[in-house]
Amino acid sequence: MTRGRLITLEGGDGAGKTSQAGWVRDLIRAQGVSLLETHEPGGTPLAETIREWVLSPAGDPPEAMAELLLVFAARRQHWVQRIGPALESGIWVLCDRFVDSTYAYQGAGRGLPIAWIAMLEHWVLGSAGRPDLTLYFDTPVDLALDRVRQRGRLNRMEREGLDWHERVRSGYQSRLEADPGRFIRIEGGLPPEKIRAMIEAALTPRFRAWASGDLPQDPSR
Ligand code: TYD
Repeated sequence: MTRGRLITLEGGDGAGKTSQAGWVRDLIRAQGVSLLETHEPGGTPLAETIREWVLSPAGDPPEAMAELLLVFAARRQHWVQRIGPALESGIWVLCDRFVDSTYAYQGAGRGLPIAWIAMLEHWVLGSAGRPDLTLYFDTPVDLALDRVRQRGRLNRMEREGLDWHERVRSGYQSRLEADPGRFIRIEGGLPPEKIRAMIEAALTPRFRAWASGDLPQDPSR
């Protein structure tokens, strides 16, 4: 059984990734593969409860390290119950946010040591958790925050200031520079039709290469 592909969507708050998710899904489905669509934090009943604890501005908010541990507790549950089994049975997975979000938000945003995140990543996901492909929606922070404010009802991260969101963006930039072959950078400030065209132009050759075996899966798995 060929392992499924793990494709992730990443970007700062208001970067526009969720509104393009349907288009990415259609392009994947056109490959004739089975697809699990999911998101983080969340994806299982327990992980959704943890999501509430992490994101709700009400109540007793976790401090930074507790937040990091909660995000990884949710991820472990999601990985063991849903993502891992799907990939093993050949199903492709499209996940709206994954481990790069933790590097950007808890690492660059909250200022927690990257080495802690790398260690937790290794414990929780082993070597199998590296996405095959990540679409990163890179959007100027002022534009992204305008979009977020128009949506109303801001979560705990979205309530942070401009500096915080700039740090998150630079955290993503570091991830991209460290692993350029995995990322496709999408300019999230462009009109939706242009973004769609960019996504299609980026995914089509990648899918073709996967199908023909020109880009084999990571042999370390
Ligand atoms: P998202 O679902 O994109 O937000 P919304 O429901 O408002 O569209 O993302 C949820 C939030 O969780 C987002 O602000 C980023 C944050 N987050 C982290 O801080 N760390 C993580 O590891 C993950 C996956 C998300």
